[in-house]
Amino acid sequence: MPFAAPSWLTLDHVWLPYTQMAATTLPLPVVAAAGSCITLADGRTLIDGIASWWTACHGYNHPHIRAAVAAQLEQLPHVMFAGLAHEPGYELAARLARLLPGDLNHVFFSESGSVAVEVALKMAVQFWRRQGQDRHRFLAFRHGYHGDTLGAFSVTDPATGFHAALAAYRVPQHFADIPVTLAQRAEFERLLAAHGSEIAAVIIEPLVQGAGGMRFHCADTLAFIRAACDRHGLLLIADEIMTGFGRTGTLFASEQAAIVPDIICLSKALTGGTLPLAATVATEQVFTAFQSPSVDDAFMHGPTFMGNPLACAAANASLDLFESEPRLAQVAAMAAQLERELAPLQELPGVVDVRVMGGIGVVQLATGEASTLRGAFIERGVWLRPFGNIVYLAPPLNIEHADLAALTGAVVDVVSNASNTHD
Ligand SMILES: Cc1ncc(COP(=O)(O)O)c(C=O)c1O
Repeated sequence: MPFAAPSWLTLDHVWLPYTQMAATTLPLPVVAAAGSCITLADGRTLIDGIASWWTACHGYNHPHIRAAVAAQLEQLPHVMFAGLAHEPGYELAARLARLLPGDLNHVFFSESGSVAVEVALKMAVQFWRRQGQDRHRFLAFRHGYHGDTLGAFSVTDPATGFHAALAAYRVPQHFADIPVTLAQRAEFERLLAAHGSEIAAVIIEPLVQGAGGMRFHCADTLAFIRAACDRHGLLLIADEIMTGFGRTGTLFASEQAAIVPDIICLSKALTGGTLPLAATVATEQVFTAFQSPSVDDAFMHGPTFMGNPLACAAANASLDLFESEPRLAQVAAMAAQLERELAPLQELPGVVDVRVMGGIGVVQLATGEASTLRGAFIERGVWLRPFGNIVYLAPPLNIEHADLAALTGAVVDVVSNASNTHD
């Protein structure tokens, strides 16, 4: 839909993410966001069905988070994390350790999901070095996505992970199917037996593979993977950057399989979607492996803005909201509404699957042209980013019933129209 672009909105200097700059149109100028709604410069509002890449778990501009960040801004916006300490960072680490399963007690902060994954990969390799073993490979899963930096995209499925142009730069890894069937489980065990001595860790997005196609697996499969890692003496890294903080119905997806990963990566909803922050959290076993009289055995990583106090204050406020507001009950209600309202799409010839887990609703189309539907959603007043053959919803966890109905209504309309056109 055409709009009058404000004078600052040109593509002369900004390089956009995942965008062919030769062919793109201007992005939509946003002036405000509150609750589940984004306000555009021309006054229109869009209901956000994807919570800004799954971050805004309490909706935008939540007063409790805003107040915490404002108070922190008055007192101490930033100070380096090496040699100096601040309460929001130390408090947040202790709270995460209390909330995470098992003895995931040792929190290393960074500022983005990809870096949290890099940190986890480095920790795993160095963990084995401390046992006198050089393990330089990882086992990752087809359709997995772990980020865009070198290590993170090397454990991302080369076929679905956006980085085909960089194939020559990728660090070679082992890839397996998520072991759902007996045959896949046997093949997974075979890979671990054959290559276990060079594999530092298995890395997985527990229960939901997000950017690789919003594919679900069940808790039993996740428990099988944990048990297989134990049988073969391998570390398990849970990348909960998307699934963490309620998205799958529990605070962390790993809880549903009652497993404790050796390392867990968190980001996205950690600050309620307000400020960049990530955490890589290790168990006692991983942490203590780094302890020795020599500084060479220390974990050598230290992002300049790690543990930024504003971001940590936002994260603490976000955790307050998980305690004080019925967020997980809201996710359960959202799941039921998504199931109900997306179900009719299952009947359409152009739809191959409709699935829901917690606060994620997925409509999988027969063809891979879902991104062409983006404009139609904007015309209906909703913000969605279909990709590949996937139209999905992952709105704020506390979205109002009527706003969610507007989102599912738009999905039903747009997908039905597209399905009719392709008949
Ligand atoms: C599971 C998972 N891991 C890692 C990342 C990378 O996070 P970031 O974009 O903050 O680097 C993402 C981002 O979508 C993700 O979904």
